[in-house]
Amino acid sequence: MRILAIETSCDETGLALLECSGPLTAPKIKLIKSVVASQVKVHAPYGGVVPTLAKREHVKNLPVLFRKLFPKIQVEVAGTESRPEFKFPNLGHPTTRSCDDPKIIPAFRSSQGTALNSSRVRKLLDNRNNFPVDEIAVTSGPGLEPALWMGITFAQDLGRAANVPVRGVNHLEGHLFSFLLVSHPTVPPLSKGRPGGVASTPYPLLATRLFPAVALIVSGGHTILLRLDSMSRWHKLGETRDDAAGEAYDKVARMLDLPYPGGPNLEKLAAGGNPRAVEFPRPMLHDKSYDFSFSGLKTSVLYHLRDHPTAHCSSLLAPRSSLPIKGRPGEVRPCNSALGRRQSAAAADVAAAFQQAVIDVLVGKTIRAARETGARSVILSGGVASNKALRRTLGRETKKIGCQYLVPPWKFNTDNAAMVGAAGYLAKLRRKNYPLRANGNLGI
Ligand code: KG4
Ligand code: ZN
Repeated sequence: MRILAIETSCDETGLALLECSGPLTAPKIKLIKSVVASQVKVHAPYGGVVPTLAKREHVKNLPVLFRKLFPKIQVEVAGTESRPEFKFPNLGHPTTRSCDDPKIIPAFRSSQGTALNSSRVRKLLDNRNNFPVDEIAVTSGPGLEPALWMGITFAQDLGRAANVPVRGVNHLEGHLFSFLLVSHPTVPPLSKGRPGGVASTPYPLLATRLFPAVALIVSGGHTILLRLDSMSRWHKLGETRDDAAGEAYDKVARMLDLPYPGGPNLEKLAAGGNPRAVEFPRPMLHDKSYDFSFSGLKTSVLYHLRDHPTAHCSSLLAPRSSLPIKGRPGEVRPCNSALGRRQSAAAADVAAAFQQAVIDVLVGKTIRAARETGARSVILSGGVASNKALRRTLGRETKKIGCQYLVPPWKFNTDNAAMVGAAGYLAKLRRKNYPLRANGNLGI
């Protein structure tokens, strides 16, 4: 089946088209095309995500991305700013979803009951063929509710216009199952007129025994450790008691005067530092539970910076207004003065030591959970999973205990719609449909 997936939970607008088949034990997820519009530029001057701006940007971006997937279908935005309406004037309102069925033609009658002339019918059928989608999957939570509502509204308006069902999807399940979006070099190029194939599930991967598995989801809002018995059964082993790992990265980045987005900028700065230069605490590493806590670590960094004021990097950074370009984080200028070089080194050491503390805790707890629960695989996902040092360290430790390591390709760690489509397909197989209502606190 063809799924169109929509993601608007935070500051990335994402749309993706996927071809999904197979049972829950061996789902086949073939990604046809995934597009993401980042709002980094818009939020950077504020140092973080502004929900009302995020909402406005989603309204602007959704039609643009939609046209990249379906160039022949028009989208118009009407309504008010608080409740926009999305219109699809040339999509038609077919009453049956099977365009191949010759009986469809009698079904195309105007609401007044007048038979449509055959060229109009053909046009509607063409339009229907330009939108070959069986289901729309949209993130309904968790996330910023004003932002979530925009994706839901778009999905509902489109679903009504195209007579296609809409399914609510849990964003965290999207992250959890993003490992199914592994790049597959043998995907044949798709025929002309359809977007090119880029990734699909490595089917042999699922033929081996993955379960039980332990999954670490690390994002801007969540740090969760799960144990999975199958693709449909899991329970939470632990989670953060305060800040999420990504949130801690973002806050420490701000303390170091690094521009938004904090996580990738801090990683870049840390690459030039000595992780043993400062001994920061490893909160809850030896606690029996599988819970996490990063707020104390963040405070330790704050105290360290108070006592070592040279370890800031504001003098090294380009002005904020020139920075917010996604994919070019941490535009640290070369600094020629002796003081500048000392500051740069001190800030890099703090960044590296903080990052090492976070990684020690995340990896230590995940590996202990995998050992204690007899896991066969370890899954890593969420925005922080794009951190190379974390990916590498968890991968190495996972291999040491003889487990399979499942991590999505780099671009599917941060928010995207491809993962929402994969989770939507699995939710369909599990007969799970989250309400089409924004739920900022939806759990997993
Ligand atoms: O999953 P995600 O894109 O959005 C949420 O669902 O929250 O995660 C965003 C978080 C942010 O806190 C961001 O700073 C962090 O992931 N992040 C990173 C890196 N890239 C993104 N943290 C550390 N290192 C990175 N390379
Ligand atoms: Zn996310």
